[in-house]
Amino acid sequence: MKNTTHIAGFLALLGFAAYGNTAAAATCATTVQANDAMQFSTKTIAVPSSCKQFTVTLKHTGQLPVAVMGHNLVVTKATDMAGVGADGMKSGAAANYVKAGDARVIAASKLVGGGQSTVVNIPVAKLKAGESYEFFCSFPGHSSMMRGTVSLTK
Ligand code: CO
Repeated sequence: MKNTTHIAGFLALLGFAAYGNTAAAATCATTVQANDAMQFSTKTIAVPSSCKQFTVTLKHTGQLPVAVMGHNLVVTKATDMAGVGADGMKSGAAANYVKAGDARVIAASKLVGGGQSTVVNIPVAKLKAGESYEFFCSFPGHSSMMRGTVSLTK
């Protein structure tokens, strides 16, 4: 334990870009919380371009059931968000409010209710430098509050 800490500190100190497997895995994942007040815990998700996949764990910390306060996490280009949201709403809860086969969707989790968690993987190769991306909840009426930016970082 102590050795691991020392090594991690040493690498961080030197600012190494190439980490060991354990450290690299840690930087290619994050957890976003969502609650009964229709809020995500963050407005930004930073995705290192060195990651092949970026894993987001969505944790609903509220208590309300999925039919009332369902949350998911959908990633699209900023310009596609409104269209994906509108089509997702028509697709209904059984489709997790995401249209099946929607090519504009870069990543989409299933819907979760209070106390539940889910995991979604963002394929990093689909994120292009200079393009604007957003994450949002496609549950009807949620995206005006439940949204943020996905940015590609070095
Ligand atoms: Co929601």
